[in-house]
Amino acid sequence: MDWREYWNGPHPIYVNARHRALHFERIAADIAALVPGPEAIALDYGCGEADAADAVAQHCGRLYLFDTAPSVIENLRQKFANNARIQILDEAALIALTDHSLDFVIINSVVQYLSHEQLGEALDLLHRKLKPTGLLAIGDVIHVNDNAVADTLALFRFAWDGGFVFAALMGVLRTVFSDYRKLRDKLGLTRYTPDEFIKLLAAHGFSAHRAASNIGHNQGRMLFVAKTA
Ligand SMILES: C[S@@+](CC[C@H](N)C(=O)[O-])C[C@H]1O[C@@H](n2cnc3c(N)ncnc32)[C@H](O)[C@@H]1O
Repeated sequence: MDWREYWNGPHPIYVNARHRALHFERIAADIAALVPGPEAIALDYGCGEADAADAVAQHCGRLYLFDTAPSVIENLRQKFANNARIQILDEAALIALTDHSLDFVIINSVVQYLSHEQLGEALDLLHRKLKPTGLLAIGDVIHVNDNAVADTLALFRFAWDGGFVFAALMGVLRTVFSDYRKLRDKLGLTRYTPDEFIKLLAAHGFSAHRAASNIGHNQGRMLFVAKTA
């Protein structure tokens, strides 16, 4: 199994329904704050289940949702069938999107599952799809010094504030025996120093800086905001 296959199957990544709801509410609010204007044509790349995408769409002219997992795409199509501002893209539809048509792209909690080469290919594609004035935000990037203990503590802080501490404890115990843990041990997660990540973005035509805070609950991870250079 690789990460693509993993995300296409059922995965207990959220410890319970409340965790899932609070996660998507939080990232939707953080993403909406980055959307450059109410008419913006936006893309959420590797959007996952995107439960609160309608809240982001309220801040955009149009919101495209793209994910590589066919099962995720199918769920999104059903979930947002009645939202005229949201359009679901599979890989063919993303490639076919008009060049230089996007004002904003968000990639959140995805790049750790990509090799440098895969990320480079995605950046080249997105550079082509963004307008010359477009903005790219990449969140939840894992710092080389980050570790599972820091991630667990961040989850418990989130759980404490959100009232799901017991479920978080059970979730962490389940993770120890999960496919996620086995795959993480086998394939690893791609990590960066801030300088390394900014240089990688520059090599693909983006001028980037690290933002003061990350998207979502884990402030040990990093958000980068980039313009087409
Ligand atoms: C941890 S989830 C993040 C979902 C969402 N962005 C969020 O922040 O909640 C990772 C997502 O990245 C997607 N993914 C994995 N590889 C990808 C790739 N090469 N291109 C785009 N999405 C990918 C997976 O299918 C999965 O839905």
